Amino acid sequence: MSEKLLEVKRVKKYFDMGKNQKLKAVDDLSFFIRKGETFGMVGESGCGKSTAGRLIMGLYTPTSGQILYNGKDIHALNELEAFQMKRKVQMIFQDPYASLNPRSTIREIIAEPLEVHGIYKTKKAELNRIYELLESVGLNQEHASRYPHEFSGGQRQRIGIARALALDPEFIICDEPISALDVSVQAQVVNVLKKLQKEKNLTYLFIAHDLSMVKHLSDRIGVMYLGHLVELTESGSLYRKPLHPYTQALLSAIPIPDPKIEDKRERIILKGEIPSPIHPPSGCVFRTRCRAAMEICAHVKPQWMEVEDHHYVACHLYQNGKTSEANRVGAGSVQRKNS
Ligand SMILES: Nc1ncnc2c1ncn2[C@@H]1O[C@H](COP(=O)(O)OP(=O)(O)OP(=O)(O)O)[C@@H](O)[C@H]1O
Ligand SMILES: [Mg+2]
Repeated sequence: MSEKLLEVKRVKKYFDMGKNQKLKAVDDLSFFIRKGETFGMVGESGCGKSTAGRLIMGLYTPTSGQILYNGKDIHALNELEAFQMKRKVQMIFQDPYASLNPRSTIREIIAEPLEVHGIYKTKKAELNRIYELLESVGLNQEHASRYPHEFSGGQRQRIGIARALALDPEFIICDEPISALDVSVQAQVVNVLKKLQKEKNLTYLFIAHDLSMVKHLSDRIGVMYLGHLVELTESGSLYRKPLHPYTQALLSAIPIPDPKIEDKRERIILKGEIPSPIHPPSGCVFRTRCRAAMEICAHVKPQWMEVEDHHYVACHLYQNGKTSEANRVGAGSVQRKNS
């Protein structure tokens, strides 16, 4: 099994909302990503996915907890290390319309990171690299002199990918790169990402609000709810055997193409709205919408436990599971019964 490239350890990000109120955007998040892996992160709007991405990019400082990249705390790097890290970790942003400067040509947009890092000595070498990047995402040289408004959403997202690739990163945070696109072009962008991953041995954190988008792409998937991870396992196990009632509800919302199965299937409707992250429910944050909620759920926060091999869940239905020594530490460092 390959080494851990990224490790998130008990990270919290609380935003100060004034009047002594804190918005708990990310609350005690722990997981790791292996080199070369695609880690899918899913959850409804507002559950803290982009905040998690920005924390990993170093755009936000955690309220508490640690983020390790190649074993080093990203907030304890010296200046040179921080500059190098900026090359290695890139982000593709959620909104392909807002993330490209409308007054810059595509050439200028892609050249920017190259110039900040002083990669090329001559304009010619830089331009060659820009052409190569455009081609790697299925665009061509003529596109370099145009402006963002001349492109479709799918093309803009591919320009965003070309920009993210400019510095030859190792790790890319893809923040809902396909959510704003038509279904017909989603596959194109996914294929570009897959091809590049293979060619360059990239590691991805792929964020989406819908499980159907990450299913075919991810090696492992983490499900988030109100700033918490509630379940994490290999992609196949998550679909075959979802444990958390929230994951079960998310999966039941995905249509199955076979009408015979589809007709008989139970659809779990989530009741009510997502609570405010300023006043999250006591105990388990999901309990107010959970069909399996019990008395204990209101009082005790469920622990993050490995209840089956490589299958982590935070839910009182499984707290007597296989593992008893896990004590809400990082998913990567939870001790397993037989290890
Ligand atoms: N800079 C900020 N200041 C205050 N609150 C913030 C800030 N950024 C995010 N939030 C809040 O933190 C919570 C999580 O937001 P975040 O953008 O991480 O969610 P998300 O899962 O990416 O949602 P979406 O699917 O809509 O993109 C939300 O309640 C949001 O309003
Ligand atoms: Mg987001």
